[in-house]
Amino acid sequence: KSYTHILTETKGKVGLITLNRPKALNALCSDLFTEVNEALKSYDNNDNIGAVVITGSKKAFAAGADIKEMKDNTFVDTYKTNFLGHWAEMTEIKKPIIAAVNGYALGGGCELAMMCDIIYAGEKAVFGQPEIKLGVIPGAGGSQRLVKAVGKSKAMEMILTGNVNLNASEALNLGLVSKVVPIDDLVDEAVKTAGVIANMSQPSVQMAKEAINKSFEVPLSAGLRWERIFFQSLFGTEGMNAFAEKRAATFTNK
Ligand code: HXC
Repeated sequence: KSYTHILTETKGKVGLITLNRPKALNALCSDLFTEVNEALKSYDNNDNIGAVVITGSKKAFAAGADIKEMKDNTFVDTYKTNFLGHWAEMTEIKKPIIAAVNGYALGGGCELAMMCDIIYAGEKAVFGQPEIKLGVIPGAGGSQRLVKAVGKSKAMEMILTGNVNLNASEALNLGLVSKVVPIDDLVDEAVKTAGVIANMSQPSVQMAKEAINKSFEVPLSAGLRWERIFFQSLFGTEGMNAFAEKRAATFTNK
């Protein structure tokens, strides 16, 4: 399928989505996000795909929600239409999503990256939440997910000033990203990790993702209960037999 604002391709068992509004630094207009969700859902339903990478350009992962699209919005209209509510659909995707962030990840761009499961940063990546300078606040998880990623004080500084940004190594030190990669190698590196994940047993991968995400939602005792039930449900799959028989596991994804 061809899209207007994104490019999609498959790399082995990995789906690669490239945000493609270079002139607007990949500003996330509403239609772009609809396309991202569509592409993600189609990968989620495709048995040949095990994980997804989302990236942008070398200059910008995404410079935020589209300010020009939003500037005349009013509360009543956006409330009635649940403006940007569809962004959250990507958190229902079962397969792991890696954000490969080169350049600016600002505002909604940073929030998009944080809705992914793993973030890799190119050496010149910049993460920030500048919404306060536009007279608004983060609207797609910045005030919630950033706190959990970098802690309260840094999140407050970033969101309240709008100009305390994180470079790649700061983002790594704080735990927002898990790896910093040379700019030109970033997408390949993310696809490589996604490929490793895609070759694991898919039910195990998806349950592990779901269990980790539970940790943000439920008390410890409930999270531990989910984990144990997921764990028990995975007996009878190929991996332990393969280990005992000293051979490589062949997961069929069923
Ligand atoms: C619409 C944008 C945009 C955005 C950049 N552009 N960011 N258009 N929405 N968020 C457009 C510019 O208008 C310009 O278009 C072109 O992209 C290139 O941008 P420049 O500013 O000329 O580039 P540069 O000087 O290199 O500066 C890069 C930048 C700056 C520092 C990233 O563009 C910037 O500050 N952008 C806004 C960042 C921001 O405030 N993001 C938060 C948005 S609010 P023309 O047509 O002039 O060439 C948000 C809310 C989230 O995200 C809530 C979600 C629910």
